[in-house]
Amino acid sequence: GGAARDDVSRPGGPADSPFVRACRRRSVPHTPVWFMRQAGRSLPEYREIRANVAMLESCRRPELVTEITLQPVRRHNVDAAILFSDIVVPVAAAGVDLDIVPGTGPVVAEPVRTAADVQRIRPIGRDDVPYVDEAVRMLVKELGDTPLIGFAGAPFTLASYLVEGGPSRTHAKTKALMYGDPELWHALAGRLAEMTLAFLRVQIEAGVSAVQLFDSWAGALSEADYRRFVLPHSTAVLAGLADAGVPRIHFGVGTAELLGAMGEAGADVVGVDWRTPLNVATGRIGPDKAVQGNLDPCLLLAPWPVIEAEVRRILDEGRAAPGHVFNLGHGVLPETDPEVLTRVVALVHELSTRPAEG
Ligand code: CP3
Repeated sequence: GGAARDDVSRPGGPADSPFVRACRRRSVPHTPVWFMRQAGRSLPEYREIRANVAMLESCRRPELVTEITLQPVRRHNVDAAILFSDIVVPVAAAGVDLDIVPGTGPVVAEPVRTAADVQRIRPIGRDDVPYVDEAVRMLVKELGDTPLIGFAGAPFTLASYLVEGGPSRTHAKTKALMYGDPELWHALAGRLAEMTLAFLRVQIEAGVSAVQLFDSWAGALSEADYRRFVLPHSTAVLAGLADAGVPRIHFGVGTAELLGAMGEAGADVVGVDWRTPLNVATGRIGPDKAVQGNLDPCLLLAPWPVIEAEVRRILDEGRAAPGHVFNLGHGVLPETDPEVLTRVVALVHELSTRPAEG
């Protein structure tokens, strides 16, 4: 409603935070920083609270979601929180029988093969994910001026889990369906795009300050195939949120050749992995979008002086972009020492602090 939107737009509020300002290519007091998978197994307090609760079950308990989302914010002084959930949460809400298996990832009981399988993926709305609506509302109250990022999986990455039945290195079944039966592919991706758009709208209505669309596995495709099979569907999601009033981040891994196309889908910010320097990425994405990234998560296992040099390099290269949100190039590894994450946040803030303007 209007009241909530007015409230988040107040000076100093989440819509005026360094994170949202950087996404919008506005001036910032320091480069904002958060970490993909900042909530998770790197934190002992997370391992403790999750000890007797299955992953999907934990995503459906608003109090637990709120506590887990806040854990890294309390610890690290990050500039944004990300809702604790998973990309397959809306897929399960749409009626697909799946589970998240520890150490493996999402596993789908009956992989999608036919048009009838696609038809069975039901449209969703707020009443199908009341726990997400509730968790976001609780979090927005708890977080005060710290912005909350909502997220969803993009059609290609979701389709890969649905067609493969689980994680895949080659995405061979997914590509076989795409090349062998383009009509069925577009029916599946179109349905997933509708679901994703509806799911992100629920989160935006409940008050998130930004959204990130994870197309983690899009880097498996050539640019030509990405443009033909994926871009129209990701565009339906991101361009579909043009009027929603929150910045849209679009992220994938191994996407050096796709960065321009991923920006065209309607992103305000393009996520970049460690393979592409941020100044090179900006050349490919263009001057009208911010970038997010791009420290290699493995680097956090290196000695501190090595990490420090890499953080400096990334901040320098990020100056070529019209806006930079510091992040990793992919998620935090479970074996990461959380104290290193806290130190990286402090270092990014210290190295990037600019004197107030005017
Ligand atoms: O802090 C955050 O970033 C928010 C939490 C978050 C999770 N999943 C929690 C989670 C986010 C943003 C996701 C998105 C997600 N899930 C993606 C896109 C991001 C990416 O990493 O590329 C993908 C591909 C998935 C699918 C998925 N779910 C995988 C590959 C796994 C890991 C399997 C494993 O156990 O190693 C999951 C499970 C999952 N999602 C965990 C967490 C914290 C681990 C489960 C646990 O803690 O028991």
